[in-house]
Amino acid sequence: MTGAGLVFSQGLILGIETSCDETAVAVVEAGVNLRSNVVASQVEMHAPFGGVVPEIAGRAHLEALDPVLRAALAEASTDFAEIDAVAVARGPGLAGALMVGMAAAKAIAVARRIPFVAVNHLEGHLFAVLLDHPEFEPPAVVVLASGGHTMLVHMAGWGAYSIIGSTLDDAAGEAFDKVGRYIGLGFPGGPAIDRAARDGNADRYVLPRAMLADGFDFSLSGLKTAVVLKCRAESEAGREIHVADMAASFQEAVVDVIVAKAVRAAAALGVGRIAMGGGVAANSRLRERMRAACESDGIDCLVSSPSLCTDNAAMIAAAGAYRLAMDGPGDLGAAADPALLAPFVFDPGSRASGSSASA
Ligand code: KG4
Ligand code: ZN
Repeated sequence: MTGAGLVFSQGLILGIETSCDETAVAVVEAGVNLRSNVVASQVEMHAPFGGVVPEIAGRAHLEALDPVLRAALAEASTDFAEIDAVAVARGPGLAGALMVGMAAAKAIAVARRIPFVAVNHLEGHLFAVLLDHPEFEPPAVVVLASGGHTMLVHMAGWGAYSIIGSTLDDAAGEAFDKVGRYIGLGFPGGPAIDRAARDGNADRYVLPRAMLADGFDFSLSGLKTAVVLKCRAESEAGREIHVADMAASFQEAVVDVIVAKAVRAAAALGVGRIAMGGGVAANSRLRERMRAACESDGIDCLVSSPSLCTDNAAMIAAAGAYRLAMDGPGDLGAAADPALLAPFVFDPGSRASGSSASA
């Protein structure tokens, strides 16, 4: 069962995702039934550099895509002849990385004479929620928190997404990665901080919660600077930083802000549901705190499973099946778009009215 207004193209959709540092291919049937979901991570290639190196990412996608494609088809017990359409992430993401997936998807569509559909990666993160929660229906406040984005979206209906808040500087995942690297936890910092924080005391280091009660936008770069200053002050005082406590203190500050704003947005919009996706939504503390806050306010809380929060192609296939049914086949002339916004639009009222006023 799927929600009202939600239509999927039937048949088998091959999804391809290469927007950042994961080469992923999936086969999904009728929009939401996962037949296979293969992800090859490049983390080890980027780790020595402490972050994703775009040139390395593009080349690694080129090398990995063919074997990952074959693995996804084999795992789904199918082959190209049975695939009905191909969906790919067109943006946002790294230009050279996106181009690899786009070129492959177009080539498959032309060779097999099947429809091609290019989707927004962030709409993919939103559809990941549906893969785990078929009951997911708008209206909802959707929290999308990843390495490149931190957004609060008012989802009024399927395909109707107004951005009511976004980060003014660092994305949440970017802050996790930078802080993780700074306190010696390596790359990627998000999962490492999540693990380290389990043994940490979140009250040990007092860190700022920028714009906590102010509107729906986020500002996270000051928090990262505060961690650096605190580490320096401790070192000047001849004290070692307690890594687990710093990880927990930092994580709690990020979680406080995301949870508070999401719940306040739901109240301001009169919406009884919060959905959450993107790599940072895999964070165990964020998941726990968001669920608890929603429960105490009588809000439905839908979060995709951790493996579907981080980049994958099942979410691209699901969003593609929806877009194909709604809009028909995409344009083979479309180029990768590293800054793609559509179908998301900025809510013109949210900043102009100082969204806190209505909250
Ligand atoms: O959605 P995603 O896989 O890729 C982008 O679209 O950016 O998100 C990756 C981001 C990285 O910054 C990574 O550190 C963060 O998600 N991340 C986490 C966790 N797992 C991944 N952040 C906090 N806690 C986690 N468990
Ligand atoms: Zn992503």
